[in-house]
Amino acid sequence: MVKQKVLVAGASGYLGRYVVREFAARGYSVRALARSRGKLADEGPNFEPAIANIVDAIYIGDAINSASLKDACKEVDIVFSCMGLTKPQHNITSEEIDHLGNKALLNDALAHGVKKFIYISVFNSDKMMDSSMVKAHELFVDELRASAIPYTVIRPTAYFNDMGMFFSFARKGHVHLFGDGMNRFNPIHGADLAKVCVDAAEETGNSEIAVGGPDIYTYDETNLMAFEALGKNPKITHLPMWGGNIVLFVIGLVNKPLASIISFALSVSRIDNVAPPTGTHHLKDFFGKLAAKGG
Ligand SMILES: NC(=O)c1ccc[n+]([C@@H]2O[C@H](COP(=O)([O-])OP(=O)(O)OC[C@H]3O[C@@H](n4cnc5c(N)ncnc54)[C@H](OP(=O)(O)O)[C@@H]3O)[C@@H](O)[C@H]2O)c1
Repeated sequence: MVKQKVLVAGASGYLGRYVVREFAARGYSVRALARSRGKLADEGPNFEPAIANIVDAIYIGDAINSASLKDACKEVDIVFSCMGLTKPQHNITSEEIDHLGNKALLNDALAHGVKKFIYISVFNSDKMMDSSMVKAHELFVDELRASAIPYTVIRPTAYFNDMGMFFSFARKGHVHLFGDGMNRFNPIHGADLAKVCVDAAEETGNSEIAVGGPDIYTYDETNLMAFEALGKNPKITHLPMWGGNIVLFVIGLVNKPLASIISFALSVSRIDNVAPPTGTHHLKDFFGKLAAKGG
């Protein structure tokens, strides 16, 4: 049987690596789209797998240079994209990567007759449109819905790699949280989410799938779990949300990319984010692994 070919954009990131591994395990021929080959050979900082030896091909391209994406989708059956701006990059906005970069990829997919496009947006996006990152994701979703290509939009809650951020604050001994820490969410491991993503590739027609992990926590519970894994006395300080808005305003004057990331973090922590649960990985075990790794 001829193998289906899939292009994974964002292959070097946390989710992308698990998605590459899941597609390869199910017998797909995987082409990874990345900005460079370098880091694909090593495990990522949150245990996400090395993928250099699993992929069939590597396509080098950068979302801010649409010409560099030309023919990335040549002879490809399925495009999966989790290519997005999650960390501040100098003078680069979510609009340029999440919206316009993915739009360039979609145009290439259309030009090459790709049969399905799977895209990662965020859960509860309609409640967070004040975040420029969420807005950029949804502008791309609008493009996808208006295109002729069959699509699935996956809307996950937070991933375990983002929980690694709480963990690193706990390691330093003190967590500062905007809000009262009582909002609830169900974070998901990359391997569990990757299964949902690859299942979507095997379905026909258009769909939108909301998904989270198996366990629901408040932000306070998450941080307490991090302190417990480290064997440290918990120290959590709650800061008022209006304080976050002031910080956001000031940072927005000098560093728009960083402000975009902070604005997303604030939007997320203002609301409950509990999506339909799936998966078998537990945050407690992930924190245990991080604690054992040290550093
Ligand atoms: N993390 C979460 O909790 C969460 C929750 C819901 C939705 N999401 C969404 O899920 C997606 C993936 O998240 P993640 O946590 O896996 O992020 P990640 O680890 O930062 O991965 C992002 C990927 O996008 C790539 N990328 C960034 N800028 C690029 C550019 N200019 N050209 C080409 N590729 C570029 C990165 O490449 P490099 O390795 O070269 O930087 C990386 O492969 C994002 O769109 C994010 O908004 C994340």
